[in-house]
Amino acid sequence: MTPEHPTSTGPHDLALDPPPGCPAHGRGPGGLQRLYGPGTEELGELYEQLREEHGPVAPALLHDDLPIWIVLGHAENLQMARTPSHFTKDTRLWSPMREGKVRPDHPLMPHIAWQPICAHAEGDEHKRLRGAVTSAMATLDERSVRRYIHRATQSLVNRFCEEGRADLVGQFAEHLPMAVMCQILGMPDEYNDRMVAAARDALKGSETAVASHEYVVDALSRLTTRRRAQPGEDFTSHLITHPAGLTDDEVREHLRLVLFAAYEATVNLLSNVLRMVLTDPRFLAQLNGGEMTVPEAVEQVLWDEPPFSTIFAYIAKQDTELGGQRIRKGDGLFFAPAPGNLDPRVRPDLSAHMRGNRSHLAFGGGPHECPGQDVGRAIADVGVDALLTRLPDVQLDCEEDELRWTTSIASRHLVELPVHFEPRPQQEEAKLRPSHAQVPPQRAGRPTPATPTPAPPAPEPVRPGPVPHPARRPNAWRRFLSWWRGY
Ligand code: HEM
Repeated sequence: MTPEHPTSTGPHDLALDPPPGCPAHGRGPGGLQRLYGPGTEELGELYEQLREEHGPVAPALLHDDLPIWIVLGHAENLQMARTPSHFTKDTRLWSPMREGKVRPDHPLMPHIAWQPICAHAEGDEHKRLRGAVTSAMATLDERSVRRYIHRATQSLVNRFCEEGRADLVGQFAEHLPMAVMCQILGMPDEYNDRMVAAARDALKGSETAVASHEYVVDALSRLTTRRRAQPGEDFTSHLITHPAGLTDDEVREHLRLVLFAAYEATVNLLSNVLRMVLTDPRFLAQLNGGEMTVPEAVEQVLWDEPPFSTIFAYIAKQDTELGGQRIRKGDGLFFAPAPGNLDPRVRPDLSAHMRGNRSHLAFGGGPHECPGQDVGRAIADVGVDALLTRLPDVQLDCEEDELRWTTSIASRHLVELPVHFEPRPQQEEAKLRPSHAQVPPQRAGRPTPATPTPAPPAPEPVRPGPVPHPARRPNAWRRFLSWWRGY
């Protein structure tokens, strides 16, 4: 959720790997598995090996060989998150922290460092801080938010629709959540390419990450000052005026938490949903057949590729037991949606569709469960739906195995998603009315018909009313698709 120095990742680092089969590969003191360095490019495979070796809770090592448990079981992750009497998110209690073994420039320090925010608080203090956040969240009007997401999608598509090609990560997924969050927080004027670049850079942990992070925080500080002087009708104003009486520092830190948590997670979710819609035969078949709605596709991605792979960390408040392992007071445990969602005890068949089932771990659980999940889902649902409506013939512009990722312990980002489509004129945003998504016709691996290309939806007069939730394809669309495929 916070900026991080990424671990070695991706194919570029393969040259550093020790020879395959080397017995010392990835192991540290005590024979424990390292979660960093050579051999950890595919953390998913590593988690499965650890599950095999240790069961649902496995010991491992972080950078500098600091000990950590990784919770691989679905039930064990929930048990940990839902038992605040035994596990806390106060990272100051982590034994290596108390013993001074965590160097200030540890690559995971942005996650480890305790901050005065609800994500690290517990008990009454957690209730006070989180209460202000959830109350401010509750003032959001869902229909207005969905309408805004739709409008923002249209203006982003307008920026590239005449080109006939685009990178849906760099030109869409990395922009839409920032546009929406700036609007929700009450600083729509701060949304621009510079703000997107700063947030991306801060999260990448590059050389300029600190300056980029400051750029974002400066904007949030100015917003806090403005709204303290003159509250309005936005998330920030409601946070400030909440009876919990947050100080300016607390307000700014929670705006930072909300902006970065929302931004990073939703960029990943959007990118992953778009990638699956464009490449996964299960999705193509189901979507084209009209059986799967966009929200169901979003839920499937939240199971298969949760935007946060792991969350650092829960700390044991006393000696206890979890998943058959003896956990000592002060031990740290990763809450881990990525392996937890693949637990064979809840998903014996990984190819089976989850059909909208929401019991995945992508949004955490217990007292800290993500309070912004409706917003995250809305951005993905409405954004993907509206994009597919504007560009119904969008297709991947490279081979699927050419797609590149950056991976860290915390998350996995798609680097780019190149697509092509029939160039189209821009549409006047004010005249665009939300509609159900059309589904991309058959793509990779199947012959593409030369004509006709479905025309973009004709602009209709603006009508007041809610943005409809993406729904099942209308029958007319199924008939059109049958015709399109030559049946
Ligand atoms: C796809 C989008 C999102 C995902 C996958 C996601 C996931 C998560 C996860 C896993 C946690 C930690 C839960 C735990 O520690 O048990 C969390 C916490 C949090 N999220 Fe989200 N999130 C998303 C979007 C958002 C949005 C849009 C907002 C705000 C508008 C938001 C605000 C927060 C806050 C404030 C917390 C801390 C809550 C607490 O500690 O009490 N998130 N999120």
